[in-house]
Amino acid sequence: MASYKNIVVLTGAGVSAESGVATFRDNGGLWEQHRIEDVATPEAFRRDPDMVQNFYNTRRAQLKNVEPNAAHTALGTLETKLDGQVTIVTQNVDNLHERGGSTNIIHMHGELGKVRCVCCRRVFLWPDDCDQASQCPNCFNQSALRPHIVWFGEMPFEMDRIESLLCACDLFISIGTSGSVYPAAGFVSLVRAAGTAHTIEVNLEPSDGASYFAETRHGEAGTLMPLLVEELLA
Ligand code: OAD
Repeated sequence: MASYKNIVVLTGAGVSAESGVATFRDNGGLWEQHRIEDVATPEAFRRDPDMVQNFYNTRRAQLKNVEPNAAHTALGTLETKLDGQVTIVTQNVDNLHERGGSTNIIHMHGELGKVRCVCCRRVFLWPDDCDQASQCPNCFNQSALRPHIVWFGEMPFEMDRIESLLCACDLFISIGTSGSVYPAAGFVSLVRAAGTAHTIEVNLEPSDGASYFAETRHGEAGTLMPLLVEELLA
């Protein structure tokens, strides 16, 4: 376990569940309370921008009341102490990996703490509420700022870089994701097709893609990840 030098970690909502951030598809998850078509598509934003902004404003505000858990901090320790490279590719839009000590992070589905202007395309840090009256700090247009989030029907960010990292890694760990949303759900197959990297799933229960992993560890990420990181650093 201690020989891996190039680790890619894919994370999903389950890694933040113990911090109190709701997952999407578990009982009581976000997609039980909101329809994807109402809040997470470009069409929804065109139809009812206030509803979409409010959905993300609520989630952005929640970030101020949650803390990284033991899984986030274990990953921060792994990056600091491993004699090699650790890259986190996260589907999560929260900032708990950063606050848990990780620095090498790709937010493939965007970030709650940022907005971008649909006119000048600049991206801005935006810690508070955004609405249709908010003005772009660069081009000063109103009604032009949207959440810096990848909605259904849009391309995730940095896919070329992610694919290169997946093909070059010697260990791929997937944590807290249901394996039901592509392209992330296909990463394990890409890794296996590219070479000999070991693959580990860490999830509360077997995900939809569990059978594609060489090794599976089932339970809470906050319990399992500190143990796994200890093994990797031994
Ligand atoms: P899901 O809600 O689909 O899946 C969360 C997974 O985490 C489930 O398999 C749970 O069993 C597992 N889980 C829950 N608590 C856990 C814990 N304490 N420890 C370990 N695992 C736990 O969330 P994602 O797979 O992240 O996209 O969803 C993927 C994408 O679908 C999201 O990024 C989002 C969503 O629609 C967009 O909004 C574009």
